[in-house]
Amino acid sequence: MMDLFSAIEEPEREELKALRKELEEANYKYYVLNMPTLSDREFDEKMHRLQTLEAQFPDMFDPKSPTQHVGSDLGKKGFEQVKHKYPMLSLANSYSREEIEDWVRKLPSGVEIVCELKYDGLSISLWYEHGVLVRALTRGDGQQGDDVIANIKTIPSIPWRIERDDIPEFFELRGEVLLPWERFEALNKEREEQEEPLFANPRNAASGTLKLQDPKEVARRGLTAYLYYMLGENLPGKTHYERLQTAKEWGFHISDAIKVCHSVDEVMAYIAYWDTERKNLPVATDGIVLKVNNLAQQEELGYTAKTPRWAIAYKFPAEKQLTLLKEITYQVGRTGVVTPVANLEPVQLSGTVVQRATLHNEDFIRSLDIRPGDMVWVEKGGEIIPKIVGRADREETSDPRIPRTPSFPSCCPECGTPLVRVDGEAAWRCPNETGCPPQIKGKIEHFVSRKAMDIEGLGEETIDLLYQKGLLHNIADIYSLRQADIAAQERLGDKSAQNILDGIEASKKVPWARVLFALGIRMVGETTAKKIARVYNTIDSLQWATAEQLCAIEDVGPQIAENIVKYFEDIRNLEILDRLRQAGLQMEGEAAAEPASDKLAGMSIVISGTFSLHSRDEYKAMIEAHGGKNVGSVSKKTSFILAGENMGPEKLKKAEALGIRLMSEEEFLEMIK
Ligand code: IVH
Repeated sequence: MMDLFSAIEEPEREELKALRKELEEANYKYYVLNMPTLSDREFDEKMHRLQTLEAQFPDMFDPKSPTQHVGSDLGKKGFEQVKHKYPMLSLANSYSREEIEDWVRKLPSGVEIVCELKYDGLSISLWYEHGVLVRALTRGDGQQGDDVIANIKTIPSIPWRIERDDIPEFFELRGEVLLPWERFEALNKEREEQEEPLFANPRNAASGTLKLQDPKEVARRGLTAYLYYMLGENLPGKTHYERLQTAKEWGFHISDAIKVCHSVDEVMAYIAYWDTERKNLPVATDGIVLKVNNLAQQEELGYTAKTPRWAIAYKFPAEKQLTLLKEITYQVGRTGVVTPVANLEPVQLSGTVVQRATLHNEDFIRSLDIRPGDMVWVEKGGEIIPKIVGRADREETSDPRIPRTPSFPSCCPECGTPLVRVDGEAAWRCPNETGCPPQIKGKIEHFVSRKAMDIEGLGEETIDLLYQKGLLHNIADIYSLRQADIAAQERLGDKSAQNILDGIEASKKVPWARVLFALGIRMVGETTAKKIARVYNTIDSLQWATAEQLCAIEDVGPQIAENIVKYFEDIRNLEILDRLRQAGLQMEGEAAAEPASDKLAGMSIVISGTFSLHSRDEYKAMIEAHGGKNVGSVSKKTSFILAGENMGPEKLKKAEALGIRLMSEEEFLEMIK
């Protein structure tokens, strides 16, 4: 009998484990990578299911389960981590009047409920001591956060100092940091021009911005903040509402959209009003927050492990519209990836007209089972780029000539070359790198972009024009352009021609690391190029590097290494490089520094874990300066491991098996002194 029961339970236990894993990953992608993979609603539904399963199988309790702690954005380098005075919790979500009624039923009768807008940014905790802002902590894992005070001080509405006699010695204000819509759109436009990845929504942009190490750049982006919660001892006021009004008097930026309500009807009216009106606000909101007004009642209600019982969020439904999928077209990008695009009957959604949406790849189209002629649901939730989330039922046809889903093209829509599908990737790619127009133009656009060679005057349109006229076929052709050729073009006179030539001339001084980035080797981004250029400071040395040697560079994995090796195996690239060299580009970096000593000569050293005294890059430079070699993986040739905290378990196991010594930071520094 027992066995039969466990056999029935088994799939649910497996589901529980799978859900824990999926939600952990979703938390990591949301909080650390700023790349959400699940919508809030999907996340909540899965979390709810996990809670149900955990209640069903108490023997599977795990304090590390995502049901037991809030997601974490810790792990960014360079900020001091500080323990919160009071844990920073999250809020339970609700989506309907019924759910709000369920919550209200559990409160003392006759409670006052404060309704506020739920700002969609990231939470911040500001500490004031004797009226002076001393810390600004992110939520982190709820228990400790990163101190990002230097960045927070760039926000004009956050006071650095409160000059009053009637304030408590210590208090904390919590609120939301946001990037206004206007700033968000300008930032993304700029990033598009620079070919940098776009932020999916203002929240991700605000989060990425707050974690920058450069407060000047943070200031330039223009964050703002709303504060919504005051904590501390001996604070004035008996209600939440009063406290917020006091904070306003002290000079804090408190929203005007706060209302004390006495019934669910009043709450629903507030929701109905703001669900429309929020579209006119300068910042993103994704719902409202309901809080018990009376502070004594709040205290009595208390908290669960993750959320207060005295507050709840109501999430506005994602806006969704049904529209006709007219056609699927295929777009070829700079790297040859072919992306299917849905061309829609224009439809109004969250204030903008939507007529195109990405369909990502072949698998995505198959999973939705859509084809031209279908009525499809388009949604604009947390993401700015509209998504197709499903289709309406259609009258089934038995006509065998109509395929159920359109087949993905087998040849490049731009140049006709048969497409290839790289192992492990969902995308189809056109391999004709040097003959496919969007790839040719894309490479040139990347080469001249601001973070690469920064050639002013050569924009997308001009590149297209010069390409059409047969004057530009590859990046080396840029350096053969003549004044007369350019000036002869429509829309380009002598003056623009001179500007372009000046820009081209100036690019010859751009340092080696940026030249390397500009070449557009697949997956070699700006940071990776810098790291590679530091180790290989001439193009010749890089050309002869093996994939294994390249993998020893921080951030370079087998895929990137292989792309680099392949790049240098292609004779067409070598010809281009030769022409660039002749044109006078910087193909060498500063000469490597003289070795500081030969104390580590002949040694292969692996760096693993996190360090507190120096950064990984600094240790790497030290190893090289003292004649040693930094290698990526542990083998019997490894001399020792410079081991920080939380060393990778695989490396640790291998080191133990091979009997390789682990050296602490302190021991290492002593050794090279
Ligand atoms: S109160 C103990 N009020 O929503 C609860 N939170 O999903 C303190 N949020 O972590 C939070 N607007 O980042 C509160 N008016 C508001 C809010 C708000 C946005 C955020 C906050 C919180 C998240 C929970």
